[in-house]
Amino acid sequence: MIEIISDTIFHLHNEKISYVMHVLPNRQLGHLYFGPSLGHLSANDMDYLTKKENKSAGTVKFFENDGLFTLADRFQELPTYGSSDFREGAFTIFAEDVPLYVDFKVAEVETFAGKERELVKPASFAEKAESQSLRITLIDKQRQLKMEITYTIFVGLGTIARNQRITNLSAEKKQLSSLMSGVLELRNQQFEFVHLSGAWLKERQIKATPLTQGTFRVGSLKGASGHQHNPFVALKAANATNDQGRVYGANLIYSGNFLAQVEMDEWDNVRLMLGIHPEQFSWTLQQGAVFEAPECIFTFTDEGLNGLGQESAAFIEKHVIAPYWQKRPRPIVFNNWEATYFDFDQEKLVALAAESQALGMECFVLDDGWFGKRDNDRSSLGDWVPDPAKFPNGIGHFAKQIHDLGLQLGVWFEPEMVSPDSQLYQEHPDWVVRHPYERISVGRGQYVLDFANPAVVEAIFAAIKKIIVETDLDYIKWDMNRNITEAYSPYLADEGIPQTEFFHRYILGVYALYQKILTEFPEILIEGCAGGGGRYDLGILFYSPQIWPSDDSDAVERLQIQTGTLLGYPMSSFSNHVSACPNHQVGRNTSLAFRQSVAMFGPLGYELDLFSLSAAEKQAIKEQIIFYKAHRQLLTYGTFYRMTDLSQKNEVVWGVSHQEEALIAYFRILAEANPAAEAFIPVPFIDPDRSYLLENEQLSGKVLKQIGLRKPYLFNAVNHQTAQATGDFQSFVYQIKAIKKE
Ligand code: DGJ
Repeated sequence: MIEIISDTIFHLHNEKISYVMHVLPNRQLGHLYFGPSLGHLSANDMDYLTKKENKSAGTVKFFENDGLFTLADRFQELPTYGSSDFREGAFTIFAEDVPLYVDFKVAEVETFAGKERELVKPASFAEKAESQSLRITLIDKQRQLKMEITYTIFVGLGTIARNQRITNLSAEKKQLSSLMSGVLELRNQQFEFVHLSGAWLKERQIKATPLTQGTFRVGSLKGASGHQHNPFVALKAANATNDQGRVYGANLIYSGNFLAQVEMDEWDNVRLMLGIHPEQFSWTLQQGAVFEAPECIFTFTDEGLNGLGQESAAFIEKHVIAPYWQKRPRPIVFNNWEATYFDFDQEKLVALAAESQALGMECFVLDDGWFGKRDNDRSSLGDWVPDPAKFPNGIGHFAKQIHDLGLQLGVWFEPEMVSPDSQLYQEHPDWVVRHPYERISVGRGQYVLDFANPAVVEAIFAAIKKIIVETDLDYIKWDMNRNITEAYSPYLADEGIPQTEFFHRYILGVYALYQKILTEFPEILIEGCAGGGGRYDLGILFYSPQIWPSDDSDAVERLQIQTGTLLGYPMSSFSNHVSACPNHQVGRNTSLAFRQSVAMFGPLGYELDLFSLSAAEKQAIKEQIIFYKAHRQLLTYGTFYRMTDLSQKNEVVWGVSHQEEALIAYFRILAEANPAAEAFIPVPFIDPDRSYLLENEQLSGKVLKQIGLRKPYLFNAVNHQTAQATGDFQSFVYQIKAIKKE
């Protein structure tokens, strides 16, 4: 998968993609191509690719003694500001206050197979037979700096992973004030910059901004990837559709402050960069010190937005999600939050658990409020000791009752937080993220613990471990409900470590806690959460195979949230709960069938008061759970297709297929008067040479492919008898099965 030609041209390729780099005339590392596979490249092909004689008009030769050479219009792998290229560079480094205009030259190249999984830091991993890596070492002799960039290509996938680490080889201390993890340079193809932006309760809405000369950026300075923006971004060619056309995806395997930006210059050259946000960041490199940037991944597809979602999902499910959870059935959860909020005791919980078990659910998740004296959100975070008023016989006894029902048990924690009204805070006021100034912001009545301090991480681990052992715990819901303000670590101050390292060290502390839990309890299922989907990223997914995607459980809103999420993340990565009506976030009433049809795409759960359900509703839940169990692997790990265009907001069609089986769900939000009499939904994944069973009707693949699935008959004011969908918030599920070839 890797060709190296005369030590100057590097070609990573498989049957889907090619990524080509070369050594520029000044020995810096240049970029040549990323796109559909070029197969094996001959010497002639290489010559052809590297030939560049036309200097772009208006560029100034500041560099070297070659009238035709300038960095200004060259595609580079590691651009830096300060030479003949005036765009923003990928890294900045100072010695004291003096900028070092680094001149990294290619020094060494090596290749190796496989990529180990290490819990200390999230990154992709692969078996030896599944990946090849190319490590290029760049040296700046004068500034005594070394940069190693490792590119990994994976068997059968359209993704390249990029890792970088910088080493200070000199005795002189240096200051790294920015280091982007990934750079991708492309010629503009009327690109739209696609990003997943939104807010609390409205996460990951797909936004697309056409590029124009200048810079566009999204990012986070909240200490977490955030509700507002997501590190997953893409460049979509203007003519790309759902299923065709070129799209480049990019993501970071990181959960902290990030920046994703795209700059287009006067010659239509596009520079996409992702990495730790340089604001509030600077890292001191003492002699011999190494700084490793988070991993960045770039994905290419020429199969449009569905191709991007599918490539991203395939890569994440194989090379980011923990091997233990890959393809493993996820339990159907009952979560008590929207059923009880803080108002519960053991008796009530056990009754709910018994009812959930009777309906077919498999894991009871005890949410917020079980510890300290927490009857509302103003106290007790940090005191991970069961409330004796709620659990008079101890939490071990409660856990046994749940397990005796044949259910798994999950427990909610918010490990990174502490309430001012808590024993932990009384004992360790210095464990809080807090500037020496008097003012400290309180969010949701709580402070953030200083996870840059290893003693804090250790203490929280000890408290959580006690509960895991006592309850023989199967599942953790790891929440995080406020962001970091007045960022300052008393610990770093004591250690003489600059505060500009705080945000990154904080997130490394979060990863350290994940590492501790998963080292001792490797089979525990951790569900990530941050006030809903405020930390939905590959850093978290490396440890937690699923994340609570939003505090908005309304099925109509979830259609958009899940559609957005599926552009960059797999279906198995979000948990969906059927909740009560009127919905607690938007007050909307939708049918149970509609809610269940939306929630079944991905790991399923229920979060509502089971005792206020009618017998008919309970029966419908029972039946849906039987259906879900029969199709669980398809609905968790199948290939997902969005079958309606992004512009179609009133009708959404989702399909999921795996081998012989497919399920397609048609959703219509608002009813309309006199809709089209008859319409069909094209099915992208049908094999025209096979026959299919649509419910009990045998149809040829050609008919389904060329004509499509007949839409449900919509109520149009005259078809009282035959309408299959009437009124607002309608769903209709089709089952398709390929008939075995003779
Ligand atoms: C925010 C989460 O997203 C909710 O699901 C719930 O766990 C609450 N926190 C509990 O405080």
